[in-house]
Amino acid sequence: MILTVSKRLEFSASRRLFVPRWSASENLTAFGPESAAEFGTGRNYVVFFIFSGPVDASNGMLINISEMKRRAGGVLHDRFDHKFLNQDNPDFRETAPTPERVAGQLFLDLAPRFADVDAKLVACHLQESPERSATFYAGGAAESNYWFEFSAARRTMSPQLTPAENERMFGQATALHGHNYRARLTFRSEKLSGEGPMVCYDKIDECLGSLRRELDHRDLNNDVPAMKDRPMTTEGLAGYLYERVNSALPLNRVRLHEREDFFAEVFEDKSVFLGMRLPFFAAHRLHAKDVSPEQNLELYGKCNNPLGHGHRYLTEATVGGEMDERSGTLFDFVALRDGLEEALRPWQNRHLDLETDDFADVPSTGENIVRALWPKVDAGLQHRLSRLRLWETANNRFTLRRT
Ligand code: NI
Repeated sequence: MILTVSKRLEFSASRRLFVPRWSASENLTAFGPESAAEFGTGRNYVVFFIFSGPVDASNGMLINISEMKRRAGGVLHDRFDHKFLNQDNPDFRETAPTPERVAGQLFLDLAPRFADVDAKLVACHLQESPERSATFYAGGAAESNYWFEFSAARRTMSPQLTPAENERMFGQATALHGHNYRARLTFRSEKLSGEGPMVCYDKIDECLGSLRRELDHRDLNNDVPAMKDRPMTTEGLAGYLYERVNSALPLNRVRLHEREDFFAEVFEDKSVFLGMRLPFFAAHRLHAKDVSPEQNLELYGKCNNPLGHGHRYLTEATVGGEMDERSGTLFDFVALRDGLEEALRPWQNRHLDLETDDFADVPSTGENIVRALWPKVDAGLQHRLSRLRLWETANNRFTLRRT
């Protein structure tokens, strides 16, 4: 399994998406109307620095998050925050500061600053708005994400099942109901190259426009002819979105949120995943047994408070495996929610160190919490867990992936 730790930081900057040696119309096609913003336009950026490596058994940490924040904060302050990226940052004088390039440059600037520790920067994820984000990976691959929303009605059912089977499988969801869907389209390139965007503005604009015309404010069972013979499930709808977009623009994967806390994901190799988020509330104290009080304070700072502190921990379990083609489901929704809920129950409203057995010998760091939670959740979900995430706060995220 692979463990990653992700730190969230913010910065604000202005930028102009354009390539100086291109004509105005070439820039318009590639970057859209903002290419004409001579003095730049602005974004409040959110960046996630993602590290991987061994966990230090003595302190339970993969990397010291405050140290990570200090070094990453320095890079942001010197080169990105409150700058006009095209002119203040020499790396964007000739190329457009697209989210992919900014994520890539942040990666290149930051990675060498962690040469002295075992943890390695493996990716930078950059959100420039709720609709647009990008990821740059060690090794040079880049991903370009576009989010869009649509509101629609549906009855959850499969035309391959009998009415009684549909009723048994989907219960209340067989009645006409609605969701505000949020979908993320991810395009991937193994090497970020050229001066232009990974996906041209005019192409993605056309693609998202036609998706909205087809899906927004529709009755999905009756108004979308292509869905008529397919199971109307979140997995089924995500699969349709994948095929629909991929026929025009080669797509790596699509994620479809039916709700903030429930989503389906479909990849280019046809693998399907379902994700569920649930919070738990707990108190804890970071304290390593084998080191002095002074060293504990230095190691964990305010998290070493003798009387403890607490969090609304948010967990996200993602399951994979074989789709049941007849029902159009990967995993039963109720079983997924109950499996995760059961695993979290012993920790609800507890002091993790004083009232559970899981942290008797190890500090309750995010790394150790997600590692202790994995076998509990996996056992409750037919051993089909593929990824488990834990947000200690919105800023600190810990992820375990099955390899
Ligand atoms: Ni804490």
